Amino acid sequence: MTPVAWTPQRWRSRPADQQPDWPDLGQLDAARKELAGRPPLVFAGEVRHLTEQLGEVASGRAFLLQAGDCAESFDDLSADAIRDKLRVILQMAVVLTYGAGVPVVKVGRMAGQFAKPRSSPTEAVGDLTLPAFRGHMVNDDAPTTAGRQPDPGRLLTAYNHAAATLNLVRAFTKGGFADLSQVHSWNQQFVASSDEGRRYEQIAAEIDGALRFMAACGIDLGAEQSLHQVDFFTSHEALILDYEEALTRCDSLTGDWYDCSAHTLWIGERTRAIDGAHVDFLSGVRNPIGCKIGPSATVDEVLELCRRLNPDRIPGRLTFVTRMGATRAGDLLPPLFAAVANAGTPVVWTCDPMHGNTFTSAGGQKTRRFDDILTELRAFFAAHRAVGTWPGGIHVELTGSDVTECLGGDGQIGEDQLHLRYTTTCDPRLNARQAIDLAFRVAELLRT
Ligand code: TRP
Ligand code: MN
Repeated sequence: MTPVAWTPQRWRSRPADQQPDWPDLGQLDAARKELAGRPPLVFAGEVRHLTEQLGEVASGRAFLLQAGDCAESFDDLSADAIRDKLRVILQMAVVLTYGAGVPVVKVGRMAGQFAKPRSSPTEAVGDLTLPAFRGHMVNDDAPTTAGRQPDPGRLLTAYNHAAATLNLVRAFTKGGFADLSQVHSWNQQFVASSDEGRRYEQIAAEIDGALRFMAACGIDLGAEQSLHQVDFFTSHEALILDYEEALTRCDSLTGDWYDCSAHTLWIGERTRAIDGAHVDFLSGVRNPIGCKIGPSATVDEVLELCRRLNPDRIPGRLTFVTRMGATRAGDLLPPLFAAVANAGTPVVWTCDPMHGNTFTSAGGQKTRRFDDILTELRAFFAAHRAVGTWPGGIHVELTGSDVTECLGGDGQIGEDQLHLRYTTTCDPRLNARQAIDLAFRVAELLRT
């Protein structure tokens, strides 16, 4: 039997987990058709550029910083919220670039991170059993029967919000906001007065000094593009395949397929079945792609994912995002790193220290301890050092504002403070102070 050639629709013949129960398939069809006629959000040339940069990461010459909300919210599309998130990511990038002396590839969980996989299709709220919240691309987080009804019109709203977000991100990153002469201005008030804020100020002052030195040496800083802007890429979990299929386009230059909803997409821990729809879909697009790897993943599964997702062994094409949990990472990671290295497939290994360390506090909020996050990161770096592979990056959930969702850090958020500013629609995020603190620790781990 000859295998059926890949098309953007082929996933439909495979089991697709985590797809919503859309109540009206006619409406879904209409939404898909409309999306398919909309302009792409990203362009094939940009996507190829990201693959090249991730190829540098795979070769141990660069570091990947991927960060943003667990779930973006339709109710939070303000310029301020986007700017604050962007600047904390820029600050982390500065700390890592300066502190570790390696180029940092910057990728946001932004402009499309609107869909969430759930462990249970329903949720009990009081006496009601409601459909689970699946992200604003699908339904509303409000715990009502009407709110939780999946609505295909949300696919279009998600596209519109992604387009508006991306437009602002492009303006900020190319229009002067990300200029290295602005390093001081990214430090927000509530960060500046903290220890990590002061540490950041010190680096910013050193960068000022370095720029003055270069100018004094006669280097024309104005002509040096790279000082004035950054390449910033977008990403989200490719979960709702109707959305991803509709935004997948054939590049006229090369004839290759690209999922133009984001520069890079990842497959979640819950949807990485080898013969499932998600692996099939992403196997056929040319974007760099990621795959989450949790504690149940076997060496054979990981090697098979390499074969399916990167048969041509293109450096930068495939990123594995490990999320093992602080207590298990040290045991589980080395055999996986070693097996992939032996197989000779280039991959980027990046650490998601968030999802394996989530628990429910006494007050009923989902949370994570800053110390557990650090412990998993340390185990990730130690495992790479032991095996001789490159710790390629971190993948974290954060926000630019002063939330109280994760415990600990230098601000020492305690369980009794979680309720103060707990605003996430899904998982707990690092606040800006915790995020910058984390960047300093990771820079140290990279240096040693
Ligand atoms: N363009 C370079 C880079 O992305 C330097 C740079 C400019 C930079 N602005 C930045 C680095 C902001 C980090 C953050 O690395
Ligand atoms: Mn999450």
